[in-house]
Amino acid sequence: MPRPPEQLPAWQRLAALAARLPDRDLPLLDADRLARYSVRLGPLLVAFGRQRVDEETRQALLALAAESGLAEAIGALCAGEPVNVTEGRSALHMALRAADPAEDAAEAAPAGARAPAEARRERERFLDFAEAVRNGRWAGDAGRPIEAVVHIGIGGSHLGPALAVEALGGDGPEVRFLANVDGAALPAALAGLDPATTLAIVASKSFATEETLANAAAVRSWFVERTCDPKIVARHFAAVTANASAAAGFGIAPAQCWPLWDWVGGRFSIWSAAGLPVAVALGRERFLALLSGAREVDAHFQDAALADNLPAMLALLAVWNGNFLGAATHAVLPYDRRLRRLPDYLQQLEMESNGKSTRLDGKPSRVDTAPVVWGGEETNGQHAYHQLLHQGTRPVAVDFIACAAGPGPAARHNALLANCFAQGEALWHGRDSADPHRRVAGGRPSTTILLDELSPRGLGALLALYEHKVFCTGAIWQVNPFDQWGVEVGKQLAAPVRSALDGSGEAPKDPLTRRLVAAAMQRRVAALGL
Ligand code: F6P
Repeated sequence: MPRPPEQLPAWQRLAALAARLPDRDLPLLDADRLARYSVRLGPLLVAFGRQRVDEETRQALLALAAESGLAEAIGALCAGEPVNVTEGRSALHMALRAADPAEDAAEAAPAGARAPAEARRERERFLDFAEAVRNGRWAGDAGRPIEAVVHIGIGGSHLGPALAVEALGGDGPEVRFLANVDGAALPAALAGLDPATTLAIVASKSFATEETLANAAAVRSWFVERTCDPKIVARHFAAVTANASAAAGFGIAPAQCWPLWDWVGGRFSIWSAAGLPVAVALGRERFLALLSGAREVDAHFQDAALADNLPAMLALLAVWNGNFLGAATHAVLPYDRRLRRLPDYLQQLEMESNGKSTRLDGKPSRVDTAPVVWGGEETNGQHAYHQLLHQGTRPVAVDFIACAAGPGPAARHNALLANCFAQGEALWHGRDSADPHRRVAGGRPSTTILLDELSPRGLGALLALYEHKVFCTGAIWQVNPFDQWGVEVGKQLAAPVRSALDGSGEAPKDPLTRRLVAAAMQRRVAALGL
């Protein structure tokens, strides 16, 4: 185990470089720098020339990678070692998108990259099912083809599939998503649907998540009440879960149940049968293209030396911005409406993975870990929060995401791209003015990721790039990106509070919660005029 990050010589060197930074010229965007700091990886062009990094800093960051044992950590992940140390598990999400052995050029591919036979078999099974739903070969109870899919799941069982379906569209049945337990979510998800032509998919690794179980039960009631036929559940529900017995207990037929494994975390699971709604929307070939885009990035991640390894470099830049230049937040700004769910997806990926304050050795972390990730659809944000990006007191690390080609007239897409590129310029160069209120200091870092087009391959590559970046930052901060113990406390506390609100349990012990419960109940009684 390497020494804690803050004790590594490279960490101290970086701190010294950061302290000197305001006095140094910003690195110029000369041709050499452009070449060195713009990397093409499959369908992605990643340009990080507008980071406050010169060659000396780059070398110090690479030294940090070496001293952190980053290459060894990547090797352990790819070899399928139990890198999820707090749960004693491997993290084999790359295996879910690995090529079939017949396509595998290298027999010597790392173990973790060779899909376990079971994962391959299940991939075939869920893709066959998706195709059958799409072409009507698999029909509902009444023999009518499926016209709509309602995908029920939350967190990692929702964000990836919802992002991919929204981003890539599709020509299959309509796919709707039901995640939140909020009373308004259910009617919206079911509005206008006919149970005879609707398929519900319950995606939950645990099959124990409160929101998902409540929504699944409500959708089951909707089917049964509308058709007066309890048997409809067996045909019109499918499940993706590691808890097959609970799914069977719910009434889901084993033939329509796909496994998740303990070696895949929810937020890394879009490549598995959790992506079933994506496969239904897109079809087999386009789903496989999503996997192939991710696989290209996996191959680079496994093979490239650290100095050329793009996910590693993005991770080092994140550490530089977050730990040395004071950027406590990371803005993800997609200049493409189809990618507007990307910030939500990356919030879970980065914050649930690395929002930790205990190191792998069980000691408290002495360095900051994951930043707050936020963002939104652009150019809307330019007329809302970009002011703070340009002139605010708190630095923000920015990722711009755009596609070279987009839908609609070229002139409109050009306007979108022009704004994206110009924002990066404005942040970097700023504008001098004699009037201090108008002065924009510049020197604010950003990375631009340009996809050739928003294709399944491009999206797969983009998501895999961020997955690996998150792994690398976790390795440098020495936290485990694959557990999420922190979310359990709130889940456990919610149950008794809900009983109190239902009137079936004791008043909460916490005085403020007790006061809030009482106030909510009083308001409801008053609203009923009792
Ligand atoms: O609450 C956090 C979490 O456990 C996530 O990690 C997970 O993606 C989500 O809940 C949903 O969990 P499940 O797939 O088990 O329903």
